[in-house]
Amino acid sequence: MTGSQEIDADALANNAGPDARLSGGLGGHPRGLNVLFFTEMWERFSYYGMRAILVLFMVAPVVNGGLGFSMAKASTIYAWYTMCVYLTSIPGGYIADKLIGPRKAVLIGGTVIALGHFTMAFQSLPAFYGGMIIIVLGTGLLKPNISTMVGRLYPASDRRRDAGFSIFYMGINLGATLSPLVCGTLAQGAGFKTFLKQIGMQPESSWHFGFAAAGVGMCLGLIHLLAQYKVLDGIGDKIVLKAKEKSASQDPEPAADSDQVSTAGALTEGEQSKLWACAILFAFNILFWAVYEQGGSSLNVFADRLTETSILGFHFESSWLQALQPIYVIALAPVFSWIWIKMGEKQPASPAKFALGLAFLSLGILIMVPAALMSAQGKVSALFLITVYFVETLGELCLSPIGLSTVTKLAPARFQSLLMGGWFVSNSIGNFLAGLLSSLFKSDSSTEMAVLFGSMAGAAFCAAALLFVLTPKIRTLMGSVR
Ligand code: PHE
Repeated sequence: MTGSQEIDADALANNAGPDARLSGGLGGHPRGLNVLFFTEMWERFSYYGMRAILVLFMVAPVVNGGLGFSMAKASTIYAWYTMCVYLTSIPGGYIADKLIGPRKAVLIGGTVIALGHFTMAFQSLPAFYGGMIIIVLGTGLLKPNISTMVGRLYPASDRRRDAGFSIFYMGINLGATLSPLVCGTLAQGAGFKTFLKQIGMQPESSWHFGFAAAGVGMCLGLIHLLAQYKVLDGIGDKIVLKAKEKSASQDPEPAADSDQVSTAGALTEGEQSKLWACAILFAFNILFWAVYEQGGSSLNVFADRLTETSILGFHFESSWLQALQPIYVIALAPVFSWIWIKMGEKQPASPAKFALGLAFLSLGILIMVPAALMSAQGKVSALFLITVYFVETLGELCLSPIGLSTVTKLAPARFQSLLMGGWFVSNSIGNFLAGLLSSLFKSDSSTEMAVLFGSMAGAAFCAAALLFVLTPKIRTLMGSVR
């Protein structure tokens, strides 16, 4: 199970090695993609399963087994939790880069995450907060490092890399689709509550079965990872610099070409401008998630309190609507890949795709304005949220998988995990802002809700316009990376 513990930076850049590894996986991709796909699928199952019921659990009255928190308090906790979950990607990326390599980091992280979910299965406030802290620590070790390994599966010039990230992104979303259905049904479903009563347990404890189910999902991911651990030999180990590179770094040559790379010491000019390009994309990424992550918070409560949760006589739990975004991702990701491949050289550069993502997001959240206004007359049709999530997902597909892939292309090899950590930090700030914005959500005031969603749409629209204008400048900074 141990394999080689270190790989050198050159071997990684050329991906020189035994090359049976470069195929044999999903869709003709490297074998390692399967392992990373399923591990991440289960990790996301656990994360999104828990997130689907988190705010609902906090605002549910104590008699119903909830915590009886106000929307403002629940949103603030949601803000801190979802921020910290991605913020720990920085130490998580660093630990993998400098100490243990990404594979071990993923294994340890997954174990810690499972422990966190099981802690939340206990009905006590300290277990609730303690479980969240444990999940935060584990996710920091797992999430950035698993994505780094996807990037490492491909040689630098391999054109399959973007498609590989799209497949990986489908794994993420497969987990995210299944878990609200499982965890939401356990937590909210009348049937499961009746079952608990029949076996002599308190029906209000159903929430905690939802949290425990998330932990079971993570354990399945760990079992799969351990069974296939060897497949990641040479992919998931720590990168070391060879002695000659270390001495060269003491006297660095000035960089002429923007794509020239340094293996140690100071960054070349080209590398520095690529980092600037990353920083600009990170800033827009923050805004994107601040709006998009209303899904787990204000829109989740809107679904619970102000939306008809039955269609054509079929009743469903409000948390099931949380499965829509990932379902759309799975359905549409291949379409997007096809469009990008079909457009070939004519496809928009990544900053323009980011701008398009923000434009779709703006349109999506705008649909919440009439929905909010109509809720003054009573519960509104679920078709509103179904459409909002659809349009927002068009935006997600223009931005999120592209962002992951672009970061691995723009980052100097030895800082890959760290930069991936940076990508998650931008996401984490977005999540934090999402929670803060959601605390302004008032389900009893349709006009205040309309103003809140309308302002989000306006901000996303302005950001999209600005990014379109900045695209040529950012492309210059990116050198030959598109
Ligand atoms: N759906 C994405 C995921 O769970 C959201 C995300 C994007 C999270 C970027 C972190 C960083 O992976």
